[in-house]
Amino acid sequence: MVRLSNNLVGILNILTFLLSIPILAGGIWLSRQANTECERFLEKPVIALGVFLMVVSLAGIIGACCRVSWLLWFYLLVMFLLIVLLFCFTIFAFVVTNKGAGEVVSERGYKEYRLGDYSNWLQKRVNSQKNWNRIKSCLQDSKVCRSLIDDGSNTPAETFYKEHLSALQSGCCKPLDDCNFTYVTPTNWTKTAKGSTNPDCVAWDSDPSILCYNCQSCKAGLLDNIKSDWKKVAVLNFIFLVFLIVVYSIGCCAFRNNREDNAWKRYP
Ligand SMILES: *[C@@H]1O[C@H](CO)[C@@H](O)[C@H](O)[C@H]1NC(C)=O
Repeated sequence: MVRLSNNLVGILNILTFLLSIPILAGGIWLSRQANTECERFLEKPVIALGVFLMVVSLAGIIGACCRVSWLLWFYLLVMFLLIVLLFCFTIFAFVVTNKGAGEVVSERGYKEYRLGDYSNWLQKRVNSQKNWNRIKSCLQDSKVCRSLIDDGSNTPAETFYKEHLSALQSGCCKPLDDCNFTYVTPTNWTKTAKGSTNPDCVAWDSDPSILCYNCQSCKAGLLDNIKSDWKKVAVLNFIFLVFLIVVYSIGCCAFRNNREDNAWKRYP
């Protein structure tokens, strides 16, 4: 009798094994290339993911094709934990990204973001100095604020006030409206004495490497970004979860086959 489930598990795992090779190679390449803290932040999770996929798919290939029951058992255990973990993570992330939204500012095209509006758990993550320094280095490397002055940086104030800015641009690249600073370019504002006492107004600097990257509004902008990205990730997670459950079920059949085959050998 052809053991279809064993072959399927074998083929699926050969695919995951092949996938793990470029991921691992990419992680190692990143660790060689990385010269900013932002890039270094990614290399460890990528390498870990590559090694994890490689080990689990090897266990699946050998377990299914060579009928090694304990390897297949290990493979199924890891898959089961992965399904439970992904399920919990999806629910948790839903709860955590439920709160918070941008606030409309009068006579402005953009919204502004307040850290206090977002969930306490997320606030704690971005308030950790270690986490924030990493995120900040990614923002500084990115084009988020530079893209505002790419067009020659002589946008008149009236035009700028009408622009729709992304949450990160609004929070990190310009001072709060409350500060009442004088507009020069989108990322250059002159401080005035009669500003508000908001700490974000003190944190502002026209130096392109400082801007409002230390502001609470920048952290809030990031959380708003995460919140809207989360909706896309949730859909992907759901598809992936269905896929994992199908693979897990096929794996269970292969495991049962292994045990039946072994029983057959033992009691002819
Ligand atoms: C901001 O504008 C002022 C006035 O034009 C200028 O003196 C200053 O060098 C600019 N700062 C930056 C960081 O571009």
